Amino acid sequence: MTTENDLVKCFQCNACHDGSPEGIDLDNHPTLKKLANRSLEFLLEVQNLTPGKNLEKRLNAEYGPGNPYFEDFCKYIKQGFEEGWVATHLIDGPKYRRGKIMHPTADNLYMSLTAVYFDSPERYSGQYHKHPYGEINCVIPIDPNFQLESLPEDTWIGAGWTSLAPGTHHYPRARGGRGIAFFFLPSGRIAYNAKPGEPQPATL
Ligand SMILES: [Fe+2]
Repeated sequence: MTTENDLVKCFQCNACHDGSPEGIDLDNHPTLKKLANRSLEFLLEVQNLTPGKNLEKRLNAEYGPGNPYFEDFCKYIKQGFEEGWVATHLIDGPKYRRGKIMHPTADNLYMSLTAVYFDSPERYSGQYHKHPYGEINCVIPIDPNFQLESLPEDTWIGAGWTSLAPGTHHYPRARGGRGIAFFFLPSGRIAYNAKPGEPQPATL
């Protein structure tokens, strides 16, 4: 059960968002409005590309550091974290936080927006889960050495992107200090009933 102590108070609207089930109110959070606009523009470009290793390579080649979308996502997510509406739900104390930012709606082409914050110098594993329709994930380091794990296991990515194929499952893992995973899920689908050791799909 979530108590108020598990939540971060938002400096923008003074509420304790738990990141879900409602998402964050666009009208009271101007930085989120900018993030939502840029996310829609980005999603219009990638909406017909299937999540997975090929998309991960393409995103890192074409949308990595220096790309205006990437830079804006970093800016608005870090700003939102400071403002108190990003990754607001403490899952394992302050070192592993998560919060839903937007549910899937027509305004985001039915791709939910979520952020997970990690703060661990050592390799840290979060909650095991499966992506029924895949995932597009922007890796936003706060500390310069921050990295997020992609698949196959032990593939580490710093500032840039991971993308996991439909049906894949994994521990969300991070290392190297503080950073945020900002991700889009088609239809908002994520499942927490997958088990380590279950077969992965033929294509990652
Ligand atoms: Fe994941």
